[in-house]
Formats: sequence, C-alpha cells, structure tokens
Amino acid sequence: MSTPKVVVIGSCMTDLVSYTPRLPALGETIHGHRFSVGFGGKGANQCIAATRLGATTAMVAMVGDDSFGQNYLQNFHDNGVNISHVGVTSEAATGVAPIAVDDAGDNCIIIIAGANLKMTAANIEKAEKMVKESTVVVCQGEITSEATLAALVMARKHNVTTLMNAAPADANLDPAIIENSVIFCVNESEAEVLTKIQVKRVEDAQLAAKILLTRGCRSVVITLGGDGAVYSTLDEHIYVPADKVTPVDTTGAGDAFVGALAYFLAYHPQLTMEEMMQRSCKIASVSVQAAGTQSSYPTRDKLPSHLFV
Ligand SMILES: Nc1ncnc2c1ncn2[C@@H]1O[C@H](COP(=O)(O)OP(=O)(O)OP(=O)(O)O)[C@@H](O)[C@H]1O
Ligand SMILES: *[C@@H]1O[C@H](CO)[C@@H](O)[C@H](O)[C@H]1NC(C)=O
Ligand SMILES: *[C@@H]1O[C@H](CO)[C@@H](O)[C@H](O)[C@H]1NC(C)=O
Repeated sequence: MSTPKVVVIGSCMTDLVSYTPRLPALGETIHGHRFSVGFGGKGANQCIAATRLGATTAMVAMVGDDSFGQNYLQNFHDNGVNISHVGVTSEAATGVAPIAVDDAGDNCIIIIAGANLKMTAANIEKAEKMVKESTVVVCQGEITSEATLAALVMARKHNVTTLMNAAPADANLDPAIIENSVIFCVNESEAEVLTKIQVKRVEDAQLAAKILLTRGCRSVVITLGGDGAVYSTLDEHIYVPADKVTPVDTTGAGDAFVGALAYFLAYHPQLTMEEMMQRSCKIASVSVQAAGTQSSYPTRDKLPSHLFV
C-alpha cells in the first residue's frame, strides 16, 4: 500500500438512529418508524471525505472488540483507508451515538465515546514513522486531549502540517493544542466558546480569529455554515463565501470541509490558501445537498475537474 499523505488521528463513532413520531417521555416506551446505522465520528468522517477526493489516507484510532468495531474496520477497508494503526481494545466498547429523531426533525443524542477515550500518547508514538512520512496530520477533539496533543507535537517535530479541528466546543481546551496547530479550525459556536466573541458575521469571525492567533497557532479557519468561511494569519484575512444551495442535510458539512482542506494541502500545495478554501467550501456545499454524513461526501469523479488542477 502506498505511503499515506493524509493521516487522521481521531474518533470513530457508530450512529444508531431511531426515527420516531415523537421523542419518548421519561419512563415511556414508544414504537418508532425506522432504524438506521451510520458511520460517524469526526475523525473518521474527515478521513473518508479526504479519501473520496483521491487522497491516500490512514486513520489512527481505537475501536472496541465488538461488532460495531469490526464493521467500522470494514468501512475503512471498503473506502481504501489504511488501518494499520487502528487499535482494538477490550477495555471499552466502540464509540456509539444513539440518536432519536422525531417527525418534526427534533432530536436527542447520547454520545458514548468509549474506545475513543482509550487512546493514549503511547498509541500515537507507534504511528510515528507514518506521521513522519505524511504531509498533513488532521486532529479533532473527540479523543483524549493527551493523544491529540501528542499527535500535534509529533507532527510539528517532523515539519508535517497540522490541521486541528477543535470540535466539539470545549471551553477548557488545552492551550498547548492551539499552540501546536499550524491551521486551527472551528465553527461559529466553537469560536465563541473559545473567545467569548459572538460570531454572527464575517467581521466577528475575523475578530475571533485574531484572538485565537494570539494563542500561538499559525493560522485560523472559521467556518460559517451557509455563509462560507474565513482564514486569518497575522498578515492576511480572507473571506470565502459558500455557494447558494438548498441544503438537504447539513450533518457532517464541517467534516467534509476539513477533509477537503486536508486533501488540497497535501495534493495541491501550489494553490493559495484562498483557492484551497474556495474549493473546500465548494465540496462541503455539495455534501449538504445529499442525505447522511459519510454517504453525502462526493467522490472526485462526481465533481468538476477544475477543482483538481
Ligand atoms: N447551507 C449551506 N449552504 C452551502 N454551504 C454550506 C451550508 N452549510 C454548510 N456549508 C459548507 O460547509 C462548511 C462547514 O459548515 P459549518 O460551518 O456549518 O460546519 P459545522 O458547524 O462544523 O457543520 P456540522 O456540525 O453540521 O458538521 C461551510 O464553510 C460551507 O462551505
Ligand atoms: C524542519 O524545518 C526547519 C526549518 O525549515 C529545519 O530547520 C528543520 O531541520 C526541519 N526538521 C525536520 C525534522 O525536517
Ligand atoms: C458547531 O459544531 C458543533 C459540533 O462541534 C455543533 O454542535 C454546532 O451546532 C455547530 N455550530 C454551528 C453554528 O453550526
């Protein structure tokens, strides 16, 4: 197998979705209409998104010694992701997210991160050779911060670009994680939790980005949903609007964006950041026009060829 250029160090979760007429009350048992199982977890989503665009990728992750874990390994295999550093632990179950969605589209979600929280710095050390030979390392906030920080520090030691997506929002994020990120990427609500700036407009996002830059990352990306995204460094501020589209399902749009950005950083380093951001927004906006999370991520052959030159 060829050397992975994009290495994602993060989470795998299995979504267990129950569609019900309404959400059950305390102590109540109700019948739902339908059940579906989906592959999720921000790390895995971003890895699959980059792979669909043609990146050679590897996942560094942990699943439980159970059927959800085995199915997840099969999902990575089917998508062509290198899983030589996906561990199987008997200490916890594979991460799951039981979700109830009612007819009005409201939902209740329980996340049990399980095996994802068994990842340690020692697991990351084992992947050092692969990290060293890669071009981009992508991290998120769904595994232990010890493992995430170890990954960022290791990538930095080897001059590998780091793309840190600080999701979900965490007011107590380890400052060393920001310091060790080349690109620090958040959405509006995560930016607000970290900076206390309410991000509603592009100007707010640029102000929040300035604050994050003072904490030591080299650059900041803030995604703004249907409004696009901003990119800031100490000497440039770029705003990229998103295409006007009619969204079908925006779940996982942020992960589609991060996966695409990782792909462009690794495979089209000659592009300006503005061009990479435009293309990543374009790909994320394609993903919101299809249902599901990983199932909505486009493959390269379904996208305009000018995105890949
Ligand atoms: N309604 C939309 N129309 C067009 N593009 C969209 C829309 N929503 C999201 N996008 C694209 O996806 C990118 C990421 O979206 P967003 O900022 O909502 O991320 P997120 O909040 O992390 O997403 P999620 O939590 O739903 O995965 C945006 O920068 C944009 O390019
Ligand atoms: C990383 O880059 C710096 C500056 O370009 C260089 O001095 C250093 O030797 C590089 N380190 C590695 C491990 O390649
Ligand atoms: C930002 O992402 C979080 C998940 O980390 C999500 O819960 C939240 O709804 C998103 N915020 C916006 C404004 O999209």
